[in-house]
Amino acid sequence: MELASAHRHRGQIPWRGLLLTASLLTSWSLPTTAQVTIEAVPPAVAEGKDVLLLVHNLPQTFQVFYWYKGTTTTDVNNEIGRFVTQTNRITMGPASSGRETIYTNGSLFIQSVTKNDEGVYTLDIIDPDYNHSYPRVQFSVHAPLPKPNITSNNSNPVEGEDSVSLTCESYANDASYQWSRNGESLSEGDRLMMSDSNRTLILINVTRNDTGPYECETWNLVSANRSDPFYLNITYGPDTPIISPSDIYLTPGSNLSLSCHAASNPPAQYFWLTNEKPQASSQELFIPNITTNHSGTYTCFVNNSVTGLSRSTDTNVTVLEEVTPPSIQVTNTTVKEMGSVTLTCLSNDTGISIRWLFNHQSLQLMERMTLSQDNSTLTIHPIRKGDAGVYQCEISNPVSFKISNPIQLEVIADPTPGDSGLSGGAIAGIVIGSVAGVALIAALIYFLYSRKTGGGSDQRDLTEHKPSASSHNLAPSDNSPNKVDDVAYTVLNFNSQQPSQPASAPLSPKATETLYSEVKKK
Ligand SMILES: *[C@@H]1O[C@H](CO)[C@@H](O)[C@H](O)[C@H]1NC(C)=O
Ligand SMILES: *[C@@H]1O[C@H](CO)[C@@H](O)[C@H](O)[C@H]1NC(C)=O
Ligand SMILES: *[C@@H]1O[C@H](CO)[C@@H](O)[C@H](O)[C@H]1NC(C)=O
Ligand SMILES: *[C@@H]1O[C@H](CO)[C@@H](O)[C@H](O)[C@H]1NC(C)=O
Ligand SMILES: *[C@@H]1O[C@H](CO)[C@@H](O)[C@H](O)[C@H]1NC(C)=O
Ligand SMILES: *[C@@H]1O[C@H](CO)[C@@H](O)[C@H](O)[C@H]1NC(C)=O
Ligand SMILES: *[C@@H]1O[C@H](CO)[C@@H](O)[C@H](O)[C@H]1NC(C)=O
Ligand SMILES: *[C@@H]1O[C@H](CO)[C@@H](O)[C@H](O)[C@H]1NC(C)=O
Repeated sequence: MELASAHRHRGQIPWRGLLLTASLLTSWSLPTTAQVTIEAVPPAVAEGKDVLLLVHNLPQTFQVFYWYKGTTTTDVNNEIGRFVTQTNRITMGPASSGRETIYTNGSLFIQSVTKNDEGVYTLDIIDPDYNHSYPRVQFSVHAPLPKPNITSNNSNPVEGEDSVSLTCESYANDASYQWSRNGESLSEGDRLMMSDSNRTLILINVTRNDTGPYECETWNLVSANRSDPFYLNITYGPDTPIISPSDIYLTPGSNLSLSCHAASNPPAQYFWLTNEKPQASSQELFIPNITTNHSGTYTCFVNNSVTGLSRSTDTNVTVLEEVTPPSIQVTNTTVKEMGSVTLTCLSNDTGISIRWLFNHQSLQLMERMTLSQDNSTLTIHPIRKGDAGVYQCEISNPVSFKISNPIQLEVIADPTPGDSGLSGGAIAGIVIGSVAGVALIAALIYFLYSRKTGGGSDQRDLTEHKPSASSHNLAPSDNSPNKVDDVAYTVLNFNSQQPSQPASAPLSPKATETLYSEVKKK
């Protein structure tokens, strides 16, 4: 299991290296014999675990094979054991520790390996022609890594002042190291350096953000381990304190409650001052049932006993009485249309804002309305019918607002309207009226005249100086039986042919009809 976890890390490359070494060693065997190879399973062994030296391609026929510890096959003391095919017997040798097992297929099994077992093993195979071959294999033995320990060269570093080096203490010289902070792997960066093959982590100019937990993980070919979290205690602050709420307005009798906070390690000491006088030595300030005398500047003062630094912040507290309801003064609540009115908002309070309400809504200010500098006086001139309604003024200060009683303004119609008061329609009506009068007189004169003379040529004379399709169509022949209709049409033509008369433009069909029926009646 430890092996497996080691494998998960950087185990891959050295592992392959060992396999390569093992195969290089075995390739020294004589070229005339079959290619015998030995594989150590596993090639890196944890102390106390087992290893199998697996022989591949053992020749079909051989007389005997010997297993030796090391590379020397001439020293009998190095012999672990042998297998003789003739007798079909396995015999253990002087280098055997009692933990070895030799199999007839050539493989050697070693149980509970120790560091002493590490190294090269040589197999000596003698074929029927007394030729020797010497395939070899090697394996390494590693102690499982103990739990590493993190040590710091500065137990109380200060933000922005100190650099800190953290060392991963591990009693193994074949270990690799990896650092993490808050569970995230660390690599070299701006203020982060690694040294001693990643065993030491250097934090340059620590900040509060470098506060742990730090962990270091170690691994070798056979095992991995992890330190306990290490908390780096970085001293910092205090930062500029923040008061909440800030810049408040209160009414007498309410409670003043202020809170102050400043980031600091160790936590800051808090003091409250009002107008330079000490109030409390706590983070919260509470003053019940305040009076206007409690208005003023409140200061939160913070201090860090370790860094020796202090900071402070001010806030303003304003205790204000609520405003009293205002009243409206008005010269006359009944005003003539086109006249003027002045409304005044009366209040004994100071430091107030004034707003006007019309029919319970915020007054929409028009050109005809003027407000005094402080909004207390509203003048409307000229007044219109639509200005009639309910007027109120509202006064407010930061803690309250009050609305006056309503004033009902009546607007009465002006009996003598000026020219400016006439509408376009009225103008048109007057003009049409006068034109119609002129036309009627002319028509009558003509009617009487044509009756006397009985000549249609005169009518032609009238129209021929500006003939038009409509006049020809509309004008019937002289022998038309209906003389009244004839007259009416002629009048219409006559009207439309008055370019000097401005009244011809606004002559509406309705006016024409009226005119026509009037003429017809005659
Ligand atoms: C030799 O025998 C051992 C024990 O039975 C076995 O584990 C191993 O796989 C065998 N070796 C080969 C190459 O078959
Ligand atoms: C780790 O360090 C602490 C304090 O220095 C010490 O008490 C502890 O024994 C150490 N542990 C190891 C495994 O070295
Ligand atoms: C700790 O190590 C860092 C980095 O090597 C060094 O800058 C710092 O001075 C050391 N601090 C102490 C207290 O030795
Ligand atoms: C140190 O760690 C980095 C990654 O954090 C890795 O790339 C590098 O190979 C490591 N160095 C050694 C000597 O282990
Ligand atoms: C700490 O990290 C926060 C968020 O990333 C950043 O806003 C702040 O400036 C950092 N503080 C310091 C002292 O580096
Ligand atoms: C003010 O504080 C007192 C306790 O000192 C509390 O009984 C009272 O309800 C508070 N008044 C308000 C308006 O919060
Ligand atoms: C608050 O103070 C006023 C005068 O300062 C006092 O008359 C009133 O009784 C006090 N109210 C309470 C609840 O303490
Ligand atoms: C406010 O202070 C003045 C002068 O210090 C004092 O005369 C007055 O009584 C105080 N008013 C209240 C409500 O405490």
